[in-house]
Amino acid sequence: MEKLENKFYIRTYGCQMNKYDSDIIKALLLKENFKEVSTPEEADYIFINTCAVREHAEKRAIGRLNSLKSLKKNKPETIVGVVGCMAKNHPDLIHHSVVDFLAPPDSYRNLAKWAIAKKSGYIPEGKNEQYSDIFIYPNKISSYLSITRGCNYFCSYCIVPYTRGLIRSRPPNNILKEAEWLIDGGTRELTLLGQNINAYYYKGVDFPEILKRVANLKGLKRLNFLTSHPKDIPDNLFSVMAEHNNVTNYLHLPLQSGKDSILTRMNRGYTLKDYLRIIDKARHLLDDLYLSTDIIVGFPGEKEEDFKETLKAVERIRFDQSYMFAYSDRKGTLAALLKDKVDERIKKDRLRRLIEIQNSITMEKASAFKGKKMEVLIMGEAKKGGKIGENRSGRIIIINGVAKIGSTYIVKINRINGRVPIGEIEKEV
Ligand code: SAH
Ligand code: SF4
Ligand code: F3S
Repeated sequence: MEKLENKFYIRTYGCQMNKYDSDIIKALLLKENFKEVSTPEEADYIFINTCAVREHAEKRAIGRLNSLKSLKKNKPETIVGVVGCMAKNHPDLIHHSVVDFLAPPDSYRNLAKWAIAKKSGYIPEGKNEQYSDIFIYPNKISSYLSITRGCNYFCSYCIVPYTRGLIRSRPPNNILKEAEWLIDGGTRELTLLGQNINAYYYKGVDFPEILKRVANLKGLKRLNFLTSHPKDIPDNLFSVMAEHNNVTNYLHLPLQSGKDSILTRMNRGYTLKDYLRIIDKARHLLDDLYLSTDIIVGFPGEKEEDFKETLKAVERIRFDQSYMFAYSDRKGTLAALLKDKVDERIKKDRLRRLIEIQNSITMEKASAFKGKKMEVLIMGEAKKGGKIGENRSGRIIIINGVAKIGSTYIVKINRINGRVPIGEIEKEV
C-alpha cells in the first residue's frame, strides 16, 4: 500500500522574522516526511502563522481563520494550528471553532508530533530556543537568516517582547554554516534578521564581527540586515559596512517620533539629536545610503505640535522609504495603560498627512536616479515583464532586456515609473 503523506499548507502574516520562522517550520515538517501543498483545500494540516503587532494584523489572521469554517465543516478531519505571535498573546483563540491547537514562536520543534497525534491545546515552548541547528531549505536567490530571537527593549507600545521573549543570540558557527548551506544552494543575497540586530552578542562576537564573517563568505553578492535600533549602533558598524563591497548601503533605522518627550514615553532611549548624529555619520561613510524608517503617529499624549515635530524631522532627514503606522493599543503593554489616548479620527488624519509628505520625498529621491549608472544584481522576473534587480544600496531597479538571474550588470537608468527606476543593461560585471 502507498504510504500516506501528511500534506500541509502554511500561510504567513507579519514581519520578516515570521517569514523566516515559516521556513523553519517547513524545514522541520519536511524532515518528518510532510509535503507542502499550495491550497488549504488539499491540506491535511493548515498552519496560520500570525502577527500581533497591531490590531489590523490580528484582524487579518482572524478573518483567515473565519474563512476556514466551511472547509472544516466539509472536512472535519483537517487539523488547523495557529502558530506565531498570536498563539502566545491570544490564548483565547483555542476556543475559535476551527482551531485545534496553538503553537507559539518557540514551540515549533514539537509541531509535527503534536499535529500527527491530533492533540489540541497549547504546544509547550522550548527553553532558550534558537533553532540554531535548523537550516531552512535553500530555494531562493534572496534569503533571510535569523541571528537573534526576541527583544529586551520593551518599547512601551510593543508586544514583541511578550510574544517572542527576551533576546537570544545564535552561535556564530551555526550562522556561518547556514549561510554557506544557502549560498551552496544558489542564494546570492542574505538578509540577517533580529528584532534588534545590533544587540547580537555571542562569547566575544558582536554584530559588526558576525557581519564581517558572513560578508567574507565566497559567492555572497549582497548582504543586508534588519532591524537596527538607534540606541545601540556600534561605533564601527558603518566602517565595517563600507569596507565590505557586498554589504549593501542600506539602513533600516526606526525613528518612531520626531518629538523627544514622545520618544521618552515610548521608552526608546534616544533623542532626535542622537538620531540625526547617527544618520550624519552613516551618510558620510556610506555612498548613496538607502535609509528607511518606521514611524508611529497618534501615540498616547501626542499633540498636534508634537506630530508637527515628526513631520519636520521627516522633511529634514528625507528617508528613502518609511513604514508608517497609527498607534494601536496592545493589551499588556505599558502604553495601553496611558490615559491620554488620541482619537481614532485624528490618528488617521495624521497618518494621511505623514504619508503624503513621505510619498513626495520618495518620488523626488527616485527621480534623481534618472541618467545614473549603477551595478545591479538580478533577483527575478518582474511582474509586468523584464527583470527585477537591486543596486548596491538595496534599491529595487527594473531592467529591460535579457539578463540572467543571479548575475550582476552595469545598468543605466533611463526612466522612472512611479517610484521605481527602470534601466537598460550596459554590460555584465
Ligand atoms: N524591532 C522590531 C520592530 C517590530 S515591530 C523589528 O524587527 O523591526 C515593527 C514596527 O511596528 C515598529 O518599529 C513600530 O513602528 C510599529 N509598531 C510596533 N508596535 C506598534 C503599535 N502598538 N502600534 C503601532 N505601530 C506599532
Ligand atoms: Fe513579527 Fe512582531 Fe508581528 Fe511577531 S508581532 S510577527 S515579531 S511584527
Ligand atoms: Fe518592539 Fe522596541 Fe523591541 S519596537 S521589538 S520593543 S526594540
